[in-house]
Amino acid sequence: MAILIRGGSVVNHDFTRRADVLVANGTIAAVGQKLDAPAGAEVIDAGGCYVMPGGIDPHTHLEFLFMGQVSADDFEWGTKAALSGGTTMIVDFCIPNPGTSMLAAYQDWRRKAEKAASDYGFHMAVTWWDKQVFDEMETVVKTYGVNTFKHFMAYKGALMVNDDELYHSFSRCAQLGAMPLVHAENGDVVFRMQEDFMNRGVTGPEGHAYSRPPEVEGEATNRAIMVADMVGSPLYVVHTSCRQAQEAIARARAAGKRVYGEPLIQHLVLDEDEYRHKEWDYAARRVMSPPFRPKAHQESLWTGLVSGALQVVATDHCSFTTKQKRIGLGDFRNIPNGTGGLEDRMPVLWSAGVNTGRLTKEEFVAVTSANIARILNVYPRKGAVAVGSDADLVVWDPKATKTISAKSQVSRIDYNVFEGYRCTGLPRATLSRGRVAFLDGDLRAKAGDGQYVARDPFPAAQVASTTYKELNRPRGVERVEVTP
Ligand code: URP
Ligand code: ZN
Ligand code: ZN
Repeated sequence: MAILIRGGSVVNHDFTRRADVLVANGTIAAVGQKLDAPAGAEVIDAGGCYVMPGGIDPHTHLEFLFMGQVSADDFEWGTKAALSGGTTMIVDFCIPNPGTSMLAAYQDWRRKAEKAASDYGFHMAVTWWDKQVFDEMETVVKTYGVNTFKHFMAYKGALMVNDDELYHSFSRCAQLGAMPLVHAENGDVVFRMQEDFMNRGVTGPEGHAYSRPPEVEGEATNRAIMVADMVGSPLYVVHTSCRQAQEAIARARAAGKRVYGEPLIQHLVLDEDEYRHKEWDYAARRVMSPPFRPKAHQESLWTGLVSGALQVVATDHCSFTTKQKRIGLGDFRNIPNGTGGLEDRMPVLWSAGVNTGRLTKEEFVAVTSANIARILNVYPRKGAVAVGSDADLVVWDPKATKTISAKSQVSRIDYNVFEGYRCTGLPRATLSRGRVAFLDGDLRAKAGDGQYVARDPFPAAQVASTTYKELNRPRGVERVEVTP
């Protein structure tokens, strides 16, 4: 059925104009003034509203077995929460255990995602290295439509990879036209600092933050940037949380390196004081890696977004219930790491970013949707209000208000780290590939409505970097030919 969104202002990352939007067969059929509604079309009144590309959250962990617990929001409830907050596509991480197959992990995640209510894609994690991984990476890119590989530089003894593995994997990414992603924290140092704090009797959630200071993130971010540059690969740094990491990325970009940075909505508005709360549950619910930072780091992240050094705001949605968090009573190292945010990312960013004048509404579209669509090579199918694009749209009411509360959320956990946050600016309607998924508080999306979005590899020209050229050109070598 056709849908006409009438009377709003279309906001893309590069312009805003008054226009109606006609949707038919899952895509945008027309954008223009005074469009006629075809017979039988549903009409959504967007008077006083903005019509924007649906949000894309490139960093989620739904139904993820991590630190002995399975995250509580699965693909059904995670994507329903997303749609309620204006996000129409998520990108989750397939994470094979070290020593196991990427291909099996991909099948496992496809099975879990069958109940997704919104569209979704995947990144693949590289958690170990040998010929099998080298070979399977090609299948992942060419057959499965995954053009991004994640590397954990932390979680020693579990998912962490060392510099040798980073070097091999980044090189392989460059060969395949794929992009490496990093969780940038120095896992060896974190491991040692965790022991030190435990030995000194710091066993509560505040020990989590103390043992992961900004320096471990800054160091790892710099290291990953240099390794990527030496093999001629771009780099995407997930959950950039502190000044040291933001500055490393800004420096790299100023030097011509193709490096991207992704702050989370949590790090933009919540700070380290949360871990000093007198109630253990309250503080433990906020344990994630990297941890919330001292407040001064938030200004650096906002600066990064405004200056273009950081391009994407994500959530790293990995939600554990209070009961699951309590596994870590007496030893903060066992508190499952992760928080939620899928439902709240767009309203909180609008409130803290656009309403304060830090971001324009076009920049809001850029950092919630268009930039990541381009980085992941799915633009303009996703990330644009344009004829031919998927009809993933959010009708945004900039005057609507709500106070965030776990009591009224879609997410399946029993708390919300943004509890009490007053939002002005909310979705009135969310459309997912031309279907109304959410309208005036009514969640209509069903499990299984979502589709898998495959992504093509990047063209070779996009993966060149400055140092790589300098290193290799004089010797006439086109590319470091990595072997398994
Ligand atoms: O604490 C977090 N971020 N949990 C999810 C796993 C990860 O590191 O992204
Ligand atoms: Zn991470
Ligand atoms: Zn994550």
